[in-house]
Amino acid sequence: MKSSCGARFAFLVLSLFAAQSVGVYAGSFHRDVQIHWGDGRGKIHDNGGRLLSLSLDKTSGSGFQSKQEFLYGKAEVQMKLVPGNSAGTVTTFYLKSPGVTWDEIDFEFLGNISGHPYTLHTNVYTRGSGDKEQQFHLWFDPTADFHTYCITWNPQRIIFTVDGIPIREFKNSESIGVPFPKSQPMRLYASLWEAEHWATRGGLEKTDWSKAPFTAFYRNYNVEGCVWANGKSSCPANAPWFTQKLDRRGANRVKWAQSKYMVYNYCTDKKRFPKGVPAVCT
Ligand SMILES: *[C@@H]1O[C@H](CO)[C@@H](O)[C@H](O)[C@H]1NC(C)=O
Repeated sequence: MKSSCGARFAFLVLSLFAAQSVGVYAGSFHRDVQIHWGDGRGKIHDNGGRLLSLSLDKTSGSGFQSKQEFLYGKAEVQMKLVPGNSAGTVTTFYLKSPGVTWDEIDFEFLGNISGHPYTLHTNVYTRGSGDKEQQFHLWFDPTADFHTYCITWNPQRIIFTVDGIPIREFKNSESIGVPFPKSQPMRLYASLWEAEHWATRGGLEKTDWSKAPFTAFYRNYNVEGCVWANGKSSCPANAPWFTQKLDRRGANRVKWAQSKYMVYNYCTDKKRFPKGVPAVCT
């Protein structure tokens, strides 16, 4: 079954009747990714390739990347973040193209001291330029259990969802001169790294290395898209994510997430954009 990020329920119902389709639906870390960084700190835990962990110690972090490149797609995974004092750690799940004028679509989870909330940082880069940050706190403890994070990237928009709830939509606004990622194929990446200075508001909190190694878990990797090979992309027929947009309910959910949980929005940062916020915001 080709699922969209919000279609977990339908998937569940279907899978009760067709348990075998689960194997088709879910990706395998063994088959689909390469642990390209971290010298053994990234590990796949089961034969089916459903569970992977990344760890970070004082010497190095770790990360994996998809074997395939995609031009548009839907990237979904479940993550359970570093518990306890995770200040200074950053756990990521993102799409990125190579080169100096790269495109990138980010989910980054900034750790915090014990009992304080993680910050979910989202951003979109086009031709090497980002500056489109929106940050959220979450309505649950992302370290207590696995939660589903998904990026939908199609020619009209990028949608970020958390447990099927859209929290951000970045629309294609090329018609008003805002670049949109549409020609550079991207790989999916995930990593756990140390960014004490960036992730703790200028190093306000220190990473507590006595708690290392820090570990984050990834489960049920599911990435499908227009696969890029030999200079062209081939899209699966009738994939729902390719034309996905937010219906009224989806738009209301974005409003809900943004009004209750957004802690930073570049679109309202007048200090940073004294001459007026970027055109895409208005
Ligand atoms: C850590 O928690 C405090 C609230 O206690 C919050 O203001 C801050 O943004 C959090 N830092 C990060 C990096 O999430």
